[in-house]
Amino acid sequence: MAPHIVALAGSLRAGSFNRKLARLGADALARAGASVDLVDLREVMMPLYDGDLEEQEGLPPGAVAFKARLAKAQGLWIACPEYNSSVPGTFKNAIDWASRGDEDVFAGKVVALTGASPGMYGAMRAHYHLRQIVTTLGCWALPEQLLVPRAHEAFGPDGALLNAKSSAMLEELAHALVAATAKLAPG
Ligand SMILES: Cc1cc2nc3c(=O)[nH]c(=O)nc-3n(C[C@H](O)[C@H](O)[C@H](O)COP(=O)(O)O)c2cc1C
Repeated sequence: MAPHIVALAGSLRAGSFNRKLARLGADALARAGASVDLVDLREVMMPLYDGDLEEQEGLPPGAVAFKARLAKAQGLWIACPEYNSSVPGTFKNAIDWASRGDEDVFAGKVVALTGASPGMYGAMRAHYHLRQIVTTLGCWALPEQLLVPRAHEAFGPDGALLNAKSSAMLEELAHALVAATAKLAPG
């Protein structure tokens, strides 16, 4: 059976480079045989995590909706920006909410990590942290990852990666995620 994979960007920005990377990942995953749900964090907006709010009202609707979409997937394709050398607070907040409640929607999922930044390192420092976070949550993080430096020069007008090597790496990573998901998280 085709693995089901959620692709998402850790940015809310309409013109986000990571949104482009999530879209490219979704297309490549579909070519590699997966069924894909491209999640836009704007569709599942949630307040800042607040333990009192959780105790009084449970999970907010955005977090419930986000968890429901994650729960259906065996794998994740994450395109995460770097803010102040780490994972953006907005995205970490969504992960934190999704880690709450009775159902564990992370454990056992296979994750491909990608990121883009206008800087020289392509969000590399955020990805050290993100790898630690998803591993803490019980995910299998693929050892290979795709980081796109100088992101403002990396995408063409159609959203494709201009560098052929990066484009090939993206395709390989999508295939690796589909293959590892079939092996490690057959659903
Ligand atoms: C609060 C903030 C902190 C940032 N810190 C970093 C950083 O540490 N390293 C980096 O490469 N880029 C940093 N940037 C620039 C982002 O990489 C850039 O805005 C990028 O386009 C964000 O990703 P997006 O295009 O997917 O929205 C920062 C941007 C913001 C808004």
